[in-house]
Amino acid sequence: MSRSGCRVALFLSVVALTGCDWFSTMSRTPSIQPYEAEPLPPPERSVALDGMGEFNLATADDLVNPAPSTVASTGNGEAAFRDFCIVCHGEGGRGGGPIEDQYPAIPTLTTGRLNDFSDGYLFALITQGRGLMPGYSRIEQRTRWDLVNYLRSLPIQAAASGAPAEQTGGS
Ligand code: HEC
Repeated sequence: MSRSGCRVALFLSVVALTGCDWFSTMSRTPSIQPYEAEPLPPPERSVALDGMGEFNLATADDLVNPAPSTVASTGNGEAAFRDFCIVCHGEGGRGGGPIEDQYPAIPTLTTGRLNDFSDGYLFALITQGRGLMPGYSRIEQRTRWDLVNYLRSLPIQAAASGAPAEQTGGS
C-alpha cells in the first residue's frame, strides 16, 4: 500500500474506532416528522385545486352539474361505474355485486328513488360517501359528474330492459 493509501486507511480506522458519527448527520436534520406538527392551513384566499368550495350532503343541492348529459358523458360515467361501483352495486346498479354480501344493505340504483336527489346531492354522495358507502373523491371531478349523469340513466335502462326496479335497502 502506498504511503497516502496508508494514511487514508489509518484515518478511516480512527473514525470507525472513535465512534465518530460524522456519517450519521443526515439522520439528525431538523426535519418535522409525520404527525409531529399540525398541518399548515392553506393561505387566506387560496382556491382549492378542484376550484370547488366546501360542501357536504346537506348543502350540495346548490352545486350545479357542469357536465351536459351527452352520450360521451354517460359513457365515461359508465366506465367509472365499472371501475369503482359495480363491485357493490352490481351491473347497471341492479345489485348482485361480488362483495354485496359483505354489506348489510346496498341499495339498487335502478329505482325512481334517485329522482328524489339533486345532481349536487349525488355528486356529494359519490365524493364524500354516506353511511357505509365510502367516498370517491379520488375520482376526477368531471368524471364524478359523468357518474351522476350515468346514474340518471340507470332507472330508464332498467325499465327498458324489464329488470325489476326493486329497492333492496339503504337509507
Ligand atoms: C363498498 C361498497 C360500495 C361501493 C364500492 C359503492 N357504493 Fe354506493 N352505496 C353503498 C351503500 C352501503 C349505500 C347505502 C348508504 C346508506 O345507507 O346511506 C350506497 C348508496 C349509494 C347511493 C344512494 C342510493 C339511495 O337509494 O339512497 C348511490 C346513488 C350510490 N351508492 C352510488 C354509488 C356510486 C356512483 C359508486 C361508485 C363511485 C358507489 N355507489 C360505490 C355501497 C357502495
